[in-house]
Amino acid sequence: MENVIEMRGIWSQYQDVVIHRDLAFQVAAGEVVALVGGSGSGKTTLLREILGLLKPVRGMVKLFGVDLSDPDPMRQRNIRQRLGMLFQQGALFSALSVFDNIAFPLRELKRLDEDWVRDLVHMKLQMVELEPHHAQLMPAELSGGMIKRVALARALAAEPELLLLDEPTAGLDPVRSRNFVRLIKDLQKSIGFTVVLVTHDLETIEGLGSDVAVLAEQRILVKGSLEAVAHFDHPFTRQFFGAPSV
Ligand SMILES: Nc1ncnc2c1ncn2[C@@H]1O[C@H](COP(=O)(O)OP(=O)(O)O)[C@@H](O)[C@H]1O
Ligand SMILES: [Mg+2]
Repeated sequence: MENVIEMRGIWSQYQDVVIHRDLAFQVAAGEVVALVGGSGSGKTTLLREILGLLKPVRGMVKLFGVDLSDPDPMRQRNIRQRLGMLFQQGALFSALSVFDNIAFPLRELKRLDEDWVRDLVHMKLQMVELEPHHAQLMPAELSGGMIKRVALARALAAEPELLLLDEPTAGLDPVRSRNFVRLIKDLQKSIGFTVVLVTHDLETIEGLGSDVAVLAEQRILVKGSLEAVAHFDHPFTRQFFGAPSV
C-alpha cells in the first residue's frame, strides 16, 4: 500500500545551520508513530515540512502519493484537507470562541453551510469529551487540559486521514496527560487515521502502544517497535529509555 508519508533525501537548514541531513521517513496508512529526539533536534521542523509550511532545502516530501512540490493548486488543496495538526502550544485563536475555533477549518477548507458546521462542531466536541455548552467559552476561560481537547477537536474537524500532534501532553498533569493519550488512542482505533506524535514522554508512548522513530544525528536514526528501538544502542536511546531491563 502507498505510504501516507514518504520523505527522502531531506536536507533542512536555517541559515547556515543544518537541521536534517539526508533524512528519510516513511509512515504507512493507519500507523501510529511517536517521534522522539533531543530538544532542538528538528522534530517540529519535520512536522512543518510534512504540513508544507516549510520547504526543505533538498529532498522529496510525498503525502498520499502526491509530491508537495507538485504545482497543481487543486492537488495541494486536496492534500491540506486530508491533514490535521495540533501545534506545540495548543494555539487556539484567542479572539474566537471554542465553537468558532473548531468551525474554522470547516469554513476554510470545506465551505460547508452553517447548519452542517454546527452539527459537525457539536459532534467533534462530543468526540473529545467536552459538553455542548463549552462551545460558547473563549480560550482564556479554558483550563490547560480543555485547550488541548479543543485543539484536538479543531485538528479533527475536517476529518483528516493524517493527524500530526506536536507534544500534545506537554504541560498537562499526569492524570490529564493519561486521559488525553487514551482519547487519542480510542479515536485512532475507531477512525483508523494515521498519527505522527512528537513527545518526550515515555509514558505517552507506552499508553499509545505506538511505534517509535528517533530523530538524532540529523536523521531518523531508527524506527520500529518500542521494544526494538529501546534496545537500539545509541547515547540518545540509552538516555531516553534507560538501561533496557531485558
Ligand atoms: N525559524 C527558525 N529560524 C532559525 N532557527 C530555527 C527556526 N526554527 C527552529 N530553529 C532552530 O532549529 C533547531 C530545530 O528546531 P525544532 O525543529 O523546533 O526542534 P525540536 O522541535 O526538535 O525541539 C533548533 O536549534 C531551533 O532553535
Ligand atoms: Mg518542537
